[in-house]
Amino acid sequence: MADKEYTGVNIEVHPEQKDERFARESVFSIIHDANLWRDEESVSGRGSSLEATEYLRPNLVGLFRTYNIRTIADAPCGDFNWFRELDYRFERYDGYDIVEALESKNTKVYGTKTTHFHHADLLGDFVPPADVLLCRDLTIHLSHEHIFTFFANVQRSGFKYILLSQYEPSDNKDRNTGVLFQPIDFFKEPFCFPEPLELIDEKAPYACAGPNQTGEKSVHPQGNSLGFWRMKDILAALAKNETFQNVLATKSFNPPAEAFRPPHTNDLYVSNCLRANIPRQ
Ligand SMILES: C[S@@+](CC[C@H](N)C(=O)[O-])C[C@H]1O[C@@H](n2cnc3c(N)ncnc32)[C@H](O)[C@@H]1O
Repeated sequence: MADKEYTGVNIEVHPEQKDERFARESVFSIIHDANLWRDEESVSGRGSSLEATEYLRPNLVGLFRTYNIRTIADAPCGDFNWFRELDYRFERYDGYDIVEALESKNTKVYGTKTTHFHHADLLGDFVPPADVLLCRDLTIHLSHEHIFTFFANVQRSGFKYILLSQYEPSDNKDRNTGVLFQPIDFFKEPFCFPEPLELIDEKAPYACAGPNQTGEKSVHPQGNSLGFWRMKDILAALAKNETFQNVLATKSFNPPAEAFRPPHTNDLYVSNCLRANIPRQ
C-alpha cells in the first residue's frame, strides 16, 4: 500500500474485545466493506493485484508441477483476484476467508465443481486437509499471539506443505491484529523457522509503505517472498516455542463446519465502525 493511498484509519483488534472471533471478523469485514487497503483492482490490497503477482504466478505454477500439487487450501483467499489467473489445474481448490461477503461474491463469480469458497476464521475453524496450505499475506496483519494461534489451529489438519509469506529483513515488531502491515521474518525470533525447500522472491514492483505501530513509516522496497516448507519441519520448530505451547494449552479450536453469525448484526462490527469513524455498511 503506497503511502499516499493509505487511508490513515487504524482499525485493529483491541485486547479488551473479549470475543476474539467476532472482533477479528468485524475488523476484516470493515476493511473489506470500506476498501481500507485502497486498491482499485483488489479489495485485498495492492499486493493482490495482477501487476504485483506477475513474477510470482509462473514460479508458483512451476513449484506446483515439481511437487505434484493436486489440492490446495488458499487461506486466506481474499477476493481471488490474482489466483484466478494462475495457469494450473487443481483437482480441488478451496479458498477460506473471515469476510463472509467474499464467500458469496467469489462463489458467484469463480465457483465451479472443483473450486469452492468458505467463510472461516483461520485462527479457530478447522481447515480440511489438502496437499498444500497457501497462506499469503495473512501473518503481516496478525499479532504474534494470533500468528501462533493460526499455526496451532492449522496443525490439526495434517497439511503436507505450506506456502507462507516471508519478509526480510524485519524486526518482527509485535502489534495488534488489524489493517496495518507488519512484515514478518520467520527465520528470526520469535519464530526461528528452518530453511524452506524453496523460496520464491515475488519481485513485486512496488514498495509497501504505511505507518507502523509507532506511527513511523515502514518501507520494504525489497518486496516479499513465498517460502515453501514441509509442514512437519515448521511444527518441529514450533514444538520448541514457549508461546506456541502456551497457545496450544489455553486456546480452544472449533470442530469442522461451525457457522458464524453475520458480522453486520455483530455489536463488535458496530463498535469498531464507531471507533474508526467509518459509516456502518
Ligand atoms: C492482504 S489480504 C491477502 C489475501 C490473499 N491471500 C492474497 O494474496 O490476495 C488478507 C486477507 O486475510 C483475511 N483474514 C484476516 N484474518 C483472517 C482470519 N482470522 N481468518 C481468515 N481470513 C482472515 C482478510 O479478510 C483478507 O482477505
